[in-house]
Amino acid sequence: MTRTLFTNIGLLVTNDPDVGDGITGEITDAALLVDLGRIAWVGTTAAAEVAGGFDIDRVVDLGGRALIPGFVDSHSHLVFAGDRSRDFEARMAGRKYSAGGILSTVAATRAASDEELRDRLNSFVSEANAQGTTTLEIKSGYGLTVHDEERLVRLSAEVTDEVTFLGAHVVPREYRGTLGALGDGELGTREDYVDLVVGPMLEACAPHAKWIDVFCEEGAFTIEESRRVLEAGIALGLMPRVHASQLAVGEGVRLAVDLSAASVDHCTYLTDLDVAALARSETVATLLPGVEFSTKQPYPDARRLLDAGVTVALSTDCNPGSSFTSSMPFCIALAVREMGMTPAEALWSATAGGAQALRREDVGRLTIGSRADLVELAAPSYVHLAYRPGVPLVRRVWKDGELLTN
Ligand code: NIG
Ligand code: FE
Repeated sequence: MTRTLFTNIGLLVTNDPDVGDGITGEITDAALLVDLGRIAWVGTTAAAEVAGGFDIDRVVDLGGRALIPGFVDSHSHLVFAGDRSRDFEARMAGRKYSAGGILSTVAATRAASDEELRDRLNSFVSEANAQGTTTLEIKSGYGLTVHDEERLVRLSAEVTDEVTFLGAHVVPREYRGTLGALGDGELGTREDYVDLVVGPMLEACAPHAKWIDVFCEEGAFTIEESRRVLEAGIALGLMPRVHASQLAVGEGVRLAVDLSAASVDHCTYLTDLDVAALARSETVATLLPGVEFSTKQPYPDARRLLDAGVTVALSTDCNPGSSFTSSMPFCIALAVREMGMTPAEALWSATAGGAQALRREDVGRLTIGSRADLVELAAPSYVHLAYRPGVPLVRRVWKDGELLTN
């Protein structure tokens, strides 16, 4: 491990308002020292010259380009098989998104081998890394049997520490029976499925996971079922996060706040009570604009949340149904163009906001002691992420001080 001095940084984003300007803690003409994979010093190039005597092995000259913290993508569903491009095509022609499409991915995922799932997962992780993501949360939720959910969390744990058990994604077909009158191929009722999730499935998955999640929405799980699932996870040492208010107003946001969830994700349809509850809480509102892009729903009102004092994160929700993008720059561009966020707010939410949604203090910022997860942009400023949408502006990425991509 070497000591590396990054110099000639046109614009450095630290996300530390005590060190630089604005919420993003910006320093112009900056330098940054990395030692043992962590940030050891930040300041201006001039101050680095005064400090002069850094004992370094390597210099990386940024040539005036911007350096920002690696993106923290705190919500993704990357272990699955199959293709739902036809659903997307139909939605673009006017069909409504519904949670029911999840079941077609469940069927394809159950039929896939571990090797197939692993290969696909690895390629999504590389794709995300190349677009500047250095911390990635991954959920299960396309298995929905004890065996398959265990496979999904186990495979996720091969590539990240931020693994979420989402056995309560939807009720699978075989548990949609009627009490006392089960049809062909039916194993039970939805209540039996919730029993399975909070019992054997949770027991098999918890050793591989850090988080418990539930899709609390019409067509998925009720508020009572959601509470039961989250409380069972908490009892086994998992921390809660919630999918809520994606398709309609509901009670999921207040459940998340009530259980001190780290994050409640989607937040597309919120009441004033939801916003007030979030503002008083430690729960982050994670907005997922790729979903609204790909379902033609209205975008969440980020301005309303920010003005109320809610902490907002941005994430891709990368999944084959509602948002098949692994690009945090794309989400930033949508947040700025469609959701009333400034470029600085959007960048903060995609880095420090995501870190807060994962209760992480070592990522999402470039302050002394934090991980040297760095993204060099082929641009003088991060504003270009929204100003030049769709352009591959991520030039180089370092994780823990080591170069990931070229
Ligand atoms: O976060 N909302 C629930 N789950 C995913 C969608 C999954 C799918 O359609 O396959 C989401 O949007
Ligand atoms: Fe999701």
